[in-house]
Amino acid sequence: MSTTFPAQVQLTEAELKLLQTLVYQECGMYFDDRRTHFLRDRLQRRLKACQMDSFYSYYRLLTSREGKQELVALLENLTVNETSFFRIRPQLELFQKVVLEEILKRKQERRDWSLRIWSAGCSTGQEPYTLAILVCDALAYYYLRNPLPFDMPTPKPLIPPPWRVEILASDINYSALLAAQQGLYTESQMEPVDYTCRLRYFDKAADKYAVKQMLKGMVQFDFHNLKTEFLPQNNDVIFCRNVMIYFDEAEQKRLIEKFHRCLNPGGHLFVGHAESLFGLTTKFHMIHENNATVYQRLEGAQ
Ligand SMILES: C[S@@+](CC[C@H](N)C(=O)[O-])C[C@H]1O[C@@H](n2cnc3c(N)ncnc32)[C@H](O)[C@@H]1O
Repeated sequence: MSTTFPAQVQLTEAELKLLQTLVYQECGMYFDDRRTHFLRDRLQRRLKACQMDSFYSYYRLLTSREGKQELVALLENLTVNETSFFRIRPQLELFQKVVLEEILKRKQERRDWSLRIWSAGCSTGQEPYTLAILVCDALAYYYLRNPLPFDMPTPKPLIPPPWRVEILASDINYSALLAAQQGLYTESQMEPVDYTCRLRYFDKAADKYAVKQMLKGMVQFDFHNLKTEFLPQNNDVIFCRNVMIYFDEAEQKRLIEKFHRCLNPGGHLFVGHAESLFGLTTKFHMIHENNATVYQRLEGAQ
């Protein structure tokens, strides 16, 4: 006997509230009045995919042990994964020419050769690979001007020894992480990448561009939900761009507190162009240069 499901199942206000609250509790994403139509649409799609005919039963599924996988699928459907290589260039210039330059100088003086950067909410990988490229170029240029007092191996490695560079890239969306890990990009996704950069860091694979193994090796992809307390520590720089925009103010404040704890003393936090820490914290100092902003962790702040 075949069962037929209505094209649209009615979603009551009470059911919407339950599901909205569940999503907020699970990942921090807040769907205010302007975005409930998007939430409604995605919920209808998931209900259909699960072949269910009641949103209350769907809610019960999501909150059950058997529903863990469906919860992951729902959250994946609710995330916005828009991203690109070299997104917001003035900010990346501030990172490479000012922040990174200062970190390299300060660390070299202390004989500390480790650098750790975290791309939180990395989507399909363009942001962390951009950061890896910027770090490689910055290190090469830095040592062109300030040669190290020992011989460089030939051929020159991307990261001059004894430096150890770790770029951690995390997201809540497994499909996006998988694509990021594959590191294959179409011609249109590569549009912001100039040809010298393509030559140095990409191989051509059929009609796509593949991130070169050496660059890929610098980036470690992992699942991290920013809603949780267990987040990667000891970072020199955190990029969390275009993620907080989907959170409400209370969740933004909690996240900024966590980032403060996840940064090394004097560490830097970059947020999206449309995002700001204004009014959310007193624990960061704002640096604004050439049309770009970065926030530096203040020490001794309560
Ligand atoms: C619009 S993309 C931004 C990508 C990149 N940072 C950029 O600016 O180009 C937002 C990303 O944040 C992720 N995200 C949303 N909520 C999250 C959470 N609670 N934990 C981790 N990642 C989350 C989404 O899956 C999505 O890939």
